[in-house]
Amino acid sequence: MPAKAIIGGQWGDEGKGKYTDIFAAHARYAVRFQGGNNAGHTIVPGDGGRSLRLHLVPSSIRRPGCIPVIGNGVVVDPEVLVSELSQLESLGYDVSALRLSANAHLIMPYHKILDRVSERYLGKNRVGTTKKGIGPAYSDKAARIGLRVQDLLDEKILLEKLESVLREKNQILAKVYNQLPLEASELAARYSELGKQLAPYICDTVSLLNEALEKGESALLEGAQGTLLDIDHGSYPFVTSSSCTIGGACSGSGIPLRHISKVIGVVKAYVTRVGAGPFPTEADPLSQEMIVSKGKEFGTTTGRKRRCGWFDCVLLRYASRINGFDEIHLTKLDVLSGFESIPVAIAYDIGGKKTKDMPYHQSEFHHARPIYEEIQGWSEEIRRAQKPEDLPLEVRQFVEIAEESAGCRVASVSVGPAEDQTVFFD
Ligand code: IMP
Repeated sequence: MPAKAIIGGQWGDEGKGKYTDIFAAHARYAVRFQGGNNAGHTIVPGDGGRSLRLHLVPSSIRRPGCIPVIGNGVVVDPEVLVSELSQLESLGYDVSALRLSANAHLIMPYHKILDRVSERYLGKNRVGTTKKGIGPAYSDKAARIGLRVQDLLDEKILLEKLESVLREKNQILAKVYNQLPLEASELAARYSELGKQLAPYICDTVSLLNEALEKGESALLEGAQGTLLDIDHGSYPFVTSSSCTIGGACSGSGIPLRHISKVIGVVKAYVTRVGAGPFPTEADPLSQEMIVSKGKEFGTTTGRKRRCGWFDCVLLRYASRINGFDEIHLTKLDVLSGFESIPVAIAYDIGGKKTKDMPYHQSEFHHARPIYEEIQGWSEEIRRAQKPEDLPLEVRQFVEIAEESAGCRVASVSVGPAEDQTVFFD
């Protein structure tokens, strides 16, 4: 069985972790290919076991037969990874199988400081980042001054690279942002110590994955964030700094297109976003409160309350086009139970013109007004639904609208956080 990719169809937090965990039961490898510890995945096992909150380690970790891989496209904060691994070990998980790409870039202390202080300077134009150093680390990668996981393995090289990078960074920290300079030798000693702890996991993940796929083994590519946060295709500049769409799955793992047999979209039955930026279907404060409390819409990484809005067919159509979704999974449908009617945006009104297409111009997206169709709500709880017949008819209408906008089938709906709260359609 070849590779499958799981991609978020909105602004992240669609519930990809749950589906990675489910699909990982049948995969040999689960690969994170972009982002870093800005992501947060919550896994709730169906057997009543303890739920898990993960930031860097792929969501397959509780599946013993599935090898978790952190691919070259991820940015790795070594302190965070070491602490996540020791937490997992203390919960009884065997993390020894983890494989970490030697080519993944590192998030260093100056990236975290710069993320925090540069946002302050942007004032009202700030992106609302997670302040984990993601953007500055990817900037250094593009500027060819990034440090990589492999650099942790040789303290002498690490020190040389740090001395060179810090010559400029310390000037910026001190003169632009009024911050204290960092000491190369102190960082080199601290990070090579972390390197020793990570050494058993570090390898050439590109060869590992390609050799496995050539032998007929399977891989699951786990996207973080979502299509509208993609650096190229998202609501720029209110995006993250990596490719969260299908192209990023290839470049961030080194797996060629021909091995990817299925692109799986995960979309929530409503929309959320954290951080700043346009959000056409953002709901009124009362509805937002209801969704936040029922859907527990707080960031796994930052604890921030998420902004909530109604299902947006324009976004889904766009995400499906960019990624070429073969099927989608509709999550958190149970959160909408009890609404008398549910607004679904079927198009935008932009300056008096109706469109079903995502406008390419930032100002048009800012001014897009959703054109809603009200669908009949359902009053019954659906959290115990096991098969399609257990779902109210109104849910079927919702599913049909989603299928029409995505141009592919809805393969399942999720009616609760646990693995067994998932209704698959034939
Ligand atoms: P950064 O990724 O920390 O640079 O943040 C850039 C933007 O992406 C901000 O609006 C964040 O709130 C958003 N973001 C980053 N990671 C996630 C995520 O996992 N879920 C939702 N939003 C995210």
